[in-house]
Amino acid sequence: MFTKPRGTRDILPEENLKRRRAEAIIRECFESFGYGEIATPTFEHLELITAKSGEEIVEHLYAFQDKSGRKLALRPELTAPVMRAYYEAMQKKPKPVRLYYIANCFRYERPQSGRYREFTQAGVELIGSDTPEAEAEVLILAHTTLKKLGLRDFSIEIGHIGILRELLSRAGVEEQNRVLTLIDKGEIKEVEKYLGEQGVEKSWIEKLLAVISLRGGVDVLDKAEEIAEVKLDRFREMLTFLSRAGVEFTVNLGIARGLDYYTGMVFEIYAPKLGAEKQICGGGTYSLAEIFGHNKEATCGFAFGFDRLLLALEKDEVNLLTGEKRAAYIIPVKPEFLAEAFEVARILRERIPCTLEVNRRKLKKALSHASKQGFTHAILVGEEFRAGRVVFRDLIKREQSEVELKEVVNML
Ligand code: HAM
Repeated sequence: MFTKPRGTRDILPEENLKRRRAEAIIRECFESFGYGEIATPTFEHLELITAKSGEEIVEHLYAFQDKSGRKLALRPELTAPVMRAYYEAMQKKPKPVRLYYIANCFRYERPQSGRYREFTQAGVELIGSDTPEAEAEVLILAHTTLKKLGLRDFSIEIGHIGILRELLSRAGVEEQNRVLTLIDKGEIKEVEKYLGEQGVEKSWIEKLLAVISLRGGVDVLDKAEEIAEVKLDRFREMLTFLSRAGVEFTVNLGIARGLDYYTGMVFEIYAPKLGAEKQICGGGTYSLAEIFGHNKEATCGFAFGFDRLLLALEKDEVNLLTGEKRAAYIIPVKPEFLAEAFEVARILRERIPCTLEVNRRKLKKALSHASKQGFTHAILVGEEFRAGRVVFRDLIKREQSEVELKEVVNML
């Protein structure tokens, strides 16, 4: 017997209906902020992905060679592919360029609830605005989208990798990404050990550990400035925009992210009810221009883990299927009325979804089948159709009446 590959899922119709609804809300939200959709290939040159994505991802790639020996990889995320497309086709466009995507990604990870080998990301990239308002916009967009979806239980945590990188530079640490990966994994003892082995002075290690333990309101910025001797005016301004926009957040300077391209503000959004895989969104300010041989270009963005978002909505008991259009089940009372039944279905489908009985069940069996399938109404097509009439049956009340076909749409 064949079964689906480990870490993948078959998404069945009812689930897909919810996914499409959620996708429509997300799309509408992203577009309402002026973002345009971009689609990139499912696979890219391996080097694009390995250039700057960090150990975390490189270990988890689906990489392969094609028949001409090209080294390729299924995309594990879309930030690097979108930036590649930007440099290939959009670089001359007026700035900023606002792009969004909803697409599948592939990571060779140990599967568990909320963690898959094929999953979907819905994200945005804002290219070419080096300002705190650009960063604020991206965060406000993530927040607005979650609110529009109806998610209630989530928290936004915002950090700043720029501060950590600055501290590490001053401490003389070249392998910064290694340290950031350890911080991201929460392996603080390992951070201490690694920096010690690199001969970093104890005072620097203490400063770094003090900064990454800072978590709270905007006031933790004062402490960070004092410990790290940095100015955080821009970060503070960005946070002010968020507060003014009604976005609730926690400053968490321990956020280091799992990808190596982040340079400034970073954030993660958690849905606590999801347990271990509670991170439903990740993003921040990053730099990828250099891998394309270009000068620094300000870029920031985020990606929702779409599958996790759906799990979170379910835990929050959000019903994505409200306002569902009612559908009708169309039954020819005898096989000789099948052609007429097709005709009725064709006319009604202009206004409402219709399912046709195609198994030649006897009327009684067909009605019981329709009820079991969740239909509330059936349209019986028989002799009356010659006069443009059908039998309209309420499957719940078990009542029926003969009506003009054109009246049916208003009765559902
Ligand atoms: P990321 O944090 O690696 O960031 O992924 C974004 C989101 O994708 C995560 O927060 C998580 O919800 C979801 N995700 C990641 N791996 C899996 C998995 N194996 N199964 C299910 N969901 C998963 C990025 O990918 C960046 N490109 C985000 C970004 C855009 N930064 C700037 N712009």
